[in-house]
This record gives sequence, C-alpha cells and structure tokens, in this order.
Amino acid sequence: MRAIPALALGALVLPLSALAADPHSYAQPEQVRVTHLDLDLAIDFPHKALDGTATLSLDWKNPKAPALVLDTRDLKIAKVEGLDAAGRATALKFALAPRDKELGSKLTIQAPKHPGKVRIVYATSPQASGLQWLTPAQTADKKLPFMFSQSESIHARSWVPLQDSPAIRFTYKAHVTAPKDVRVVMSALNEATHPLDGDFRFDQPHPIPSYLLAIAAGDIAVKETGPRSAVYAEPSVVGKAAHEFEDTEKLIEATEKLYGPYAWGRYDILVLPPSFPYGGMENPDMTFATPTVLVGDKSLVSLVSHELAHSWSGNLVTAASWRDIWLNEGFTTYVQGRITEAVYGKTLADEEALLSARALQKSIGKMPENSQKLAPDPRGVGADDSLSDVAYDKGSWFLRTLEQRFGRATFDQWLKAYFHRHAFTSITTEQMLADMKAHLFDPHPGKMSWDEAKAWVYEPGIPKDAPLPTSARFQKIDEERASFLEGTLDAAQLDAKGWNTQEWMYFLDRLPDAPPLSKMKQLDAAWHLTGTPNAEIGMRWYSHAIAAGDRNVWEDAREHMTRIGRMYLTLPVYKAFAATPEGLAYAEAAYAKAKDGYHPMTQGAIESILRKARQGKK
Ligand code: BES
Ligand code: ZN
Repeated sequence: MRAIPALALGALVLPLSALAADPHSYAQPEQVRVTHLDLDLAIDFPHKALDGTATLSLDWKNPKAPALVLDTRDLKIAKVEGLDAAGRATALKFALAPRDKELGSKLTIQAPKHPGKVRIVYATSPQASGLQWLTPAQTADKKLPFMFSQSESIHARSWVPLQDSPAIRFTYKAHVTAPKDVRVVMSALNEATHPLDGDFRFDQPHPIPSYLLAIAAGDIAVKETGPRSAVYAEPSVVGKAAHEFEDTEKLIEATEKLYGPYAWGRYDILVLPPSFPYGGMENPDMTFATPTVLVGDKSLVSLVSHELAHSWSGNLVTAASWRDIWLNEGFTTYVQGRITEAVYGKTLADEEALLSARALQKSIGKMPENSQKLAPDPRGVGADDSLSDVAYDKGSWFLRTLEQRFGRATFDQWLKAYFHRHAFTSITTEQMLADMKAHLFDPHPGKMSWDEAKAWVYEPGIPKDAPLPTSARFQKIDEERASFLEGTLDAAQLDAKGWNTQEWMYFLDRLPDAPPLSKMKQLDAAWHLTGTPNAEIGMRWYSHAIAAGDRNVWEDAREHMTRIGRMYLTLPVYKAFAATPEGLAYAEAAYAKAKDGYHPMTQGAIESILRKARQGKK
C-alpha cells in the first residue's frame, strides 16, 4: 500500500448540481479564477513561519459575483486589499470561517468592484500541514536550519491563500528572503550559481495547479548531472545523489523520444532529509525526493522515471479533481515503466510491473468496492478510504492492456497526441475517455470493446483477462520461496546472491503474513537482513519478522522507522508493532521520542495507527 492519507469525502453530502465542482476546495471558479500569483515571502526560521504577501491576479467570470472565495488552513490573515490597474490599494472586508478538519478555513473576501488583483498580507502557522521545519540538529550537516513544502493533495492552502483545486491553473512569480548562506529553491527554474545572499526570485511561466507550488530552503549544495539537470542536496549527500541520478539526461531523452519535447526547461532533483513524507514529488523543474532511494546501485532510480514522467502525465495534463487522480498516477506509472524499459531493459520493467500487479491482486479484494474503482463515485468514498495502489497499479495495468490490444505503435501515437491535445489543461476522467474513444477506439475498431474499457474505469476489481508480464527470475523466486517454506530448501541454499532490490522485494512480499519464527531466524542468519541499508528491503523484512514474533529485530526496526519519515516505508513497521500489546507499547515509546523529527502528515498517520490499535481496531 502506498501510504497516502485519506482524502475525506465521506462527510460531504453534495447536491447533484454541485458534483462538477471540486469537493476539496471552497473556490468558486465559475465566479472568478486566479490566473497569476505573486508571492513576496520572508522565511522566518526562529518562528517557523513564512511571512509576507500573496497577490492574486483575477479573471472575473460572473459580472455579479460579490466575493472572492479562497482556501486557507491555519493562516494568520492580517489585511486584504484590492489593487486597481494603477496599483492603488483599497482595503477589502474579509471573513475567515471556522476551521474544517479536512478543508481548512474558507476565506471570503468582499470584492463587488472586481479588482484586477487582490493582495493578502499573511503568515503561516508553525503547524502548517504542508510545511516541515527542521532545526540544524535535525539535518545531516547540522549547520543551518531546513524547511520544505509538500502541497499535494490539499496542503498548498496551509502556506498560500489561494483557490486550492487542481482544476485551476496559474503562473507564478516569487520573491523570497532567507538568512544568508541558506539556498532557497522553488518549483520554477532554479539557478545553480545563484549567490547565497538571502534574496531569491523565481518565475514559473507555465500555468500550474496549486498542488505543484513548492519551496525548500536550507544548507543546499548543487551538482550538475547533465546539460539540463542537477541534484540539490545537503553538502554531505550531494555527491552520492549525483552518482545515483547520473542517468537523468538519458531518462529525459528516452521520454522525449516517446512523448515529445520536455516542456519545462530544466529537470533538477532536490534530495530532502529522511523525514520527507513521500518517495518523490513531481514539483515542476525541481522534483523533491526521499534520500531512501540513495542505495548506491541505482536500483531505485524508477523514482526518477516516475517523477520525470509526471512532467507529461500530471504536470502537462492534470487530473481536474482528486477523484480523477489516476489520470496523474496511473498514466505516470505506465510511462515510468516505458522509461525503465527504454533505459534499463525489459527484464527490470517487467519485474516492476509484476511486483506491483501482484501486490494489487493481494490488496484490492480487502478494499471497499468504491475504492477499487479507478474513477470512484465521489459520493460513496468514505472518510477512511485512501488513495491507494488502485490509482497507480490498476491505472497502469489498464494502459498496458490497451497497449497490448491496440499494438505499441498505435497506442504510443494516441498517448503522445493526448498529451499534446490537453497540454497545460486540467481534465476529468470523462474528458480523457472521450479523447480515448474518438482517437483510439473509433479509428481502430475490433481491438477492444468500449464496454471493456468502461469496466476497467468504473467497475471494482481487476478484469479477469488482465494480461501480466512474465519474469523467469520471479518464477524461480516463487519456486524457491515455496521450497524454503516447505522445508525442502534451507535459507542458505536460496540462490539469492545475485538478487537485485526488486527480487528481494518480490521474495519478501509473497511470504505469508506471519511466517514461522524459525524461518525468519534462518533467513536472517543466512542473509543478514536486519540492519540492511536498503529501506525497501528493510520495511518488508521488519514487518514480517515482527509479525513472526522475532524480538531480535525490534531495535533495528525502531531505528528504521524513527530515522525514515517516508510514510510508505515507516507506517507498515508501526502497524506490525501495533498488532500486539507489547509491540504497541514499544512503538508508542519510540514514537514519543521521535515525534519532533517527523513531518506533520507522518505524525498524523502514525498517531492514527497507534490510536486505532489502542482502541482495539485494526
Ligand atoms: N504525486 C505523487 C505523490 C503524492 C500523491 C503526494 C498523492 C500526495 C498525494 C508522486 O508522484 C508519487 O507517486 N510518489 C511515489 C513514488 C513512487 C511511485 C516511485 C511515492 O512517494 O512513493
Ligand atoms: Zn506519482
């Protein structure tokens, strides 16, 4: 399971007429739309705050609209002004509604005269859900403080007052000040040679949705990896990162060959401290990435292929609402596989596809029916359902099925043209389907029925005849795992010397949920999994070993889960501990010590696991 926190839709009972609107935003785009954002912010590390102004350029749609309604969460709003064409300011009345747990506070600005711009003077709160603030002691090099944003899904509103919906796109410019020696980067073109003088300017000339707004600041060094790519990271990490990501230019070229020119100018990667709550985030011009992929052998570089792929699927063509998120993540996971195949070969691409398909087969049946759908019914999504493997792995499986039925050449031609036709727009599942019908199904009859396509999108489960790649190496691992569990093969006799990361992941993924303790001890004695530097392997190993009752791994499991804040790698270990009373007590003590180092999102997710366990729920 990708640990992506629930987007609660359940509490919202919507009239049918409101269904077109984004249920996760208070914005009223049919009244007025933000077209451009100017930020002028100071980074205040001692107060853990961004402080300054956001000036929104407005395109009024309804001549009678009385107000501009924005999304905010935990912002302190000091003043709101309307600006006329000459830049003259007039104070505007505004009201901040009580905080909704999911959506934050609706900000209603009275603006009956329809000013061309509105300027908001504000500051963020130290608890902003979309920001993490680290003290120098919490960084790798201990010299300067660090801060970073994570806006997707609906956290941009915790650091900028705006229309926080992926259906609304705007360009932005920013002026950001920071203490001397700190480097500031944003989801816009960044200059490696920028002086560290505390004064930075940014320009994102392409219209982007709000969830792609991003900022980070800290002791950040830069190393080029190609003519249009570099890695940014703390000085002690940047060398390792440049080595891990040395193929970046090859990946960009492979993607351009498939889907047309890279539209964003540069493709840089910022490697964050280990508390970054995700694996990667496709911020335009500057992917944000977890350091957990720096394993030294480039085996987890698919993360770069994935975030780079979003430069087409997601950042060029964007899902119009969170219900349509599979248009971002499913298409991207498909493209990721194609990039991996082009640069690293079909064997690895097939292994990764198989790994995720097998995991989905295992998990999908346990989900509520509506969550099993690529395009769920927004009225039926419960508060605890989360964006899961369905968007990624069922989405990409559907596209691989289409590729097989229509043939690679035909499918590639459609996908490239689809990206081109919808570039810099936000679309719904239904708009994508209309495009697919008109440009893929209608001109190429007899390959797949339209009903079959609709079943993939609107029905739960996985269609019976969904094609799977084969992998001789995975097949052998299935056989060896079975013999090992039966007792006909000792752990030491497993042919695992040459297993790559994916092959270890596959071996561990398909062990029984709570394997016999003796088997776990044998495995560890032969292959030294406890203490592994590879967190993908560690997460799987510790989860199984804890479930088997192996107390010897507890200390290393604790080290893993308190060092790493990436939810996908840390939550399963907490869950494994939470399954027994002693484990729960141990995990609670570990969490109490480590809490301050976690991102607010990770804190929320861990606390929810511990709370449910304490209440005796799963
Ligand atoms: N855009 C996502 C991360 C995301 C999704 C954040 C939804 C918040 C809400 C990013 O592209 C992603 O999918 N990251 C994966 C990378 C993996 C699939 C290689 C992750 O973080 O694990
Ligand atoms: Zn993604």
